[in-house]
Amino acid sequence: MAEPNWKNRTFFLGDNLGFLEAMNSESVDLIATDPPFNKGRDFRATPDSLAAGAKFQDRWSWDQDVHRDWVDQITDSHPGLMPVIAAARDTYSDGMGAFLCFMAMRLLAMRRILKPTGSVYLHCDPTASHYLKQLMDAVFGRRNFKNEVVWCYKSGGASKRQFARKHDIILFYAKAEKLCRFNVLKVKSYGRTGGGQGGAVKYFRDGQGTYSVVSARDWWDISMLSTTHGERLGYPTQKPIALYERMILASSDEGDMVLDPFAGCATTLVAAERLKRQWVGIDIWGNAKAVVLQRLGREGLLAEETAGQRRLFTEDVTFTTDLPERTDDGRPAAPAQPSRQHGSGPDGLELSRAEMQASLLSQQGIKCQGCDRKFDDPRYLEVGHDTPCSDGGSNHLSNRVLLCSPCARAKGSRYTLRGLRRLNRSKGWMAQP
Ligand SMILES: C[S@@+](CC[C@H](N)C(=O)[O-])C[C@H]1O[C@@H](n2cnc3c(N)ncnc32)[C@H](O)[C@@H]1O
Repeated sequence: MAEPNWKNRTFFLGDNLGFLEAMNSESVDLIATDPPFNKGRDFRATPDSLAAGAKFQDRWSWDQDVHRDWVDQITDSHPGLMPVIAAARDTYSDGMGAFLCFMAMRLLAMRRILKPTGSVYLHCDPTASHYLKQLMDAVFGRRNFKNEVVWCYKSGGASKRQFARKHDIILFYAKAEKLCRFNVLKVKSYGRTGGGQGGAVKYFRDGQGTYSVVSARDWWDISMLSTTHGERLGYPTQKPIALYERMILASSDEGDMVLDPFAGCATTLVAAERLKRQWVGIDIWGNAKAVVLQRLGREGLLAEETAGQRRLFTEDVTFTTDLPERTDDGRPAAPAQPSRQHGSGPDGLELSRAEMQASLLSQQGIKCQGCDRKFDDPRYLEVGHDTPCSDGGSNHLSNRVLLCSPCARAKGSRYTLRGLRRLNRSKGWMAQP
């Protein structure tokens, strides 16, 4: 396991993908995060609140938000993810596919930086929770699924058309099921009940003075922040500290490193600080610094001048746009989840790339299917997809073709085989039919 390559209490300002990719492998104990939910709208802070001016966009477009290299990376290195994304594009919208692509890239990075004993809590709602669970199964492995926690809350508003929607979903996965830390069973015989907010959970103080959580069910009844709630900053989608405290108590110990890559107004980070964990946050929101510092102050966690019994000073919190430098030699950590369907043959058997190539050579000859050029050496040909995975093509042999390298590069995941042939013809690189 590597050490973190950032200081405790760092808040990275900017798009989280670059920061996640620059963080050392296996350096974080717990990720608890609340990304956009694909609600198809923009969120803005209450105008005269502490967070005034804060906003983020939660609408997604395949053409504008999906980077070509994400699709290539997912298709080539994690083929199990593309069918999930393609299914969401088909059954929901291109926008949902774009959101899932965005999330897939970040989840892959999150898995790499989690320690083998670590866990992740992904907050979502029924808009995308069913697609995200499939992504999480593909990235973290279905055996590492722990819970689908339902956060139930009361808030105004009812519908005449369906039951009022009053819950969010929190997907809880371990990096490795058998190694992951879970404090529910740990302190059964200790202590006294304390005052956990939200009712259903009890806090116990163990011999070392740490708090742990016991007897929690997988549905949590914790109040939302009302407009007059003391914690409320006006930041759009701000969550209660009690909710994130529960995740942190259950899945980390004092001194552990907690990460929230979609940190917003720092709810997870404040919860981590209160529970004596180390923390690191990331958010793309430009004005996070002032609000996060004010918030730590309001929670009584920050002192400007004298230490007293307080532990934390403004200068102890780092805000930066600089990427950390990897100090783990770029170690990739445990291999990502193997994909079962890298290439299957007619009878459902798994085929290696070499076996597929041999089978295609016997069917198609030593000829590029993109430009019809014949070769005398099969090593000039590589195995590609007819319909790209990003468009719903499978890895099955029936969707595989042999391509020369210029054709494979030109095709990428932008064209079907037909599209590639049309392109080649329009450029005069092959005969008209
Ligand atoms: C649902 S809010 C999180 C709210 C947070 N839980 C709180 O209580 O304040 C989602 C956050 O993700 C941030 N965000 C969206 N895209 C991002 C990206 N690419 N990188 C970093 N942060 C991003 C938004 O700015 C927003 O603050």
